[in-house]
Amino acid sequence: MLRKPCTVNLVLFYCSCLFSVSTGDGRLGASFIFGDSLVDAGNNNYLPTLSKANIKPNGIDFTASGGSPTGRFTNGKTIGDIVGEELGQPNYALPFLSPDCTGNVILNGVNYASGGGGIMNATGRVFVNRLSMDIQIDYFNITRKQLDGLLGAAKARDYLMKMSIFSITVGANDFLNNYLLPVLSIGERISENPNTFIDSLITHLRGQLTRLYQLDARKFVVGNVGPIGCIPYQKTINQLNENQCVDLPNKLALQYNGRLRDLLAELNQNLHGATFVLANVYDLVMDVVTNYAKYGFKTSSKACCGNGGQFQGIIPCGPTSSMCEERSDYVFWDPYHPSEAANLVIAKKLIDGDKKHVSPINLRQLRDL
Ligand SMILES: *[C@@H]1O[C@H](CO)[C@@H](O)[C@H](O)[C@H]1NC(C)=O
Ligand SMILES: *[C@@H]1O[C@H](CO)[C@@H](O)[C@H](O)[C@H]1NC(C)=O
Repeated sequence: MLRKPCTVNLVLFYCSCLFSVSTGDGRLGASFIFGDSLVDAGNNNYLPTLSKANIKPNGIDFTASGGSPTGRFTNGKTIGDIVGEELGQPNYALPFLSPDCTGNVILNGVNYASGGGGIMNATGRVFVNRLSMDIQIDYFNITRKQLDGLLGAAKARDYLMKMSIFSITVGANDFLNNYLLPVLSIGERISENPNTFIDSLITHLRGQLTRLYQLDARKFVVGNVGPIGCIPYQKTINQLNENQCVDLPNKLALQYNGRLRDLLAELNQNLHGATFVLANVYDLVMDVVTNYAKYGFKTSSKACCGNGGQFQGIIPCGPTSSMCEERSDYVFWDPYHPSEAANLVIAKKLIDGDKKHVSPINLRQLRDL
C-alpha cells in the first residue's frame, strides 16, 4: 500500500508533525519572519515589483539552492536563515507566496518579509509593489488558520506560543524609501518633522505587534534600524570618504531606535505572557562597519556586487554588474545589504550575545523559555 506516492506522503507528513510538535528537546520548531529585504527569502519573486533579487549572482553562496538565486538579497543566508538553523529548526521557513508553502512545511514557520516593505503602507511605493507590515500580518492570519487545520486548535496554540519565534526586521525602508525620498514627495518629509513621522511609525508598529499577540505570538524579536547612513549607496551618493557615514539617516535611525526600546518595554509590561526581545542591529552593524578588520573583513565601505561611484554603490547587483573576488572580505554584498559573512557575525551575537546587543535575553534563551 505504501507504493502509492500519496500514501507515502501522508505517512511522512504524519511523522514530521508528530516529531515537530512533540519535541521538548530544546529545538526551535518554527520561525515566523516579518520585515524587509534584509530577511526576504523570495516573496518578491511572486510580485510585479522593481525590488527583486532572483537574478544572478545573488544567492551564489546559498548552499541549499546550489548557488542559484532564491530571492534573498545577499550572496548566501540571511540572518533569519542563520538563526533558525542555529536554534535547531528542521528547515528554512519558506516564503508565504511560494506555491510550495503549503501543508506540513509551514510547521517550520513561514517568511512574510518583502524587499521594499515597511511599517507604513506608503513605504516602498517607489518599487511599485511590496508587502508592507499590515499585509504581512493579514497573511499570517491565513497561516494561523492553516495551523489549526494541521494540528488542531489546542496544539496549534501551544506550538505558536512555545515552539515558535516571531522576528520583525523593519523600519529602514520607512526612512530610506519614504521619509528621506527626495522631492516630488511620495515620501512624507515635506509635510512632517521627524518627531511626528517617528510617532506614527511607533503607533502603527504597536498595533501590528499587538495583532500578532492576538494571533498567539508570544516570543518576539524586533530589530532596530541599522546605521543606514553607512551603506555603500548612501556613502556613494553623498560622496563620502572611506570611513565616514551620512549623518541624517543615522540620526533618524537612532531617534526611532530610542522610541522602539520604550515601545518594547511597554509591551513587555502590558501584553501578558509575551516576551519582546530587542535586537540592537544598529550597534551590531556599526561595530562590524567600524572594526571590520577585527572580524576578518577587508572593507566595510565598498559593495562586493554593484557598480557606480567610489563604493560600487549606485547600480544594484545583477548579471551585468561587477562582483568582487573574495566575497567574505566584504561587509556589504551590494549597495544596501550585508554579505553572508557579515550576517553570520551579527546572527551569532543575537543568538548567544549579551545585553548590549540583545535584551533583555538572547535568542537562545528566548527559545528555551
Ligand atoms: C494601511 O491601510 C489600511 C487601509 O486603508 C489602514 O487601515 C491602515 O491603518 C494602514 N496602515 C498603515 C500602517 O498605514
Ligand atoms: C484574522 O482574520 C479574521 C477573519 O478570518 C478576522 O476576524 C480577525 O480580526 C483577524 N485577526 C487579526 C488579528 O487580524
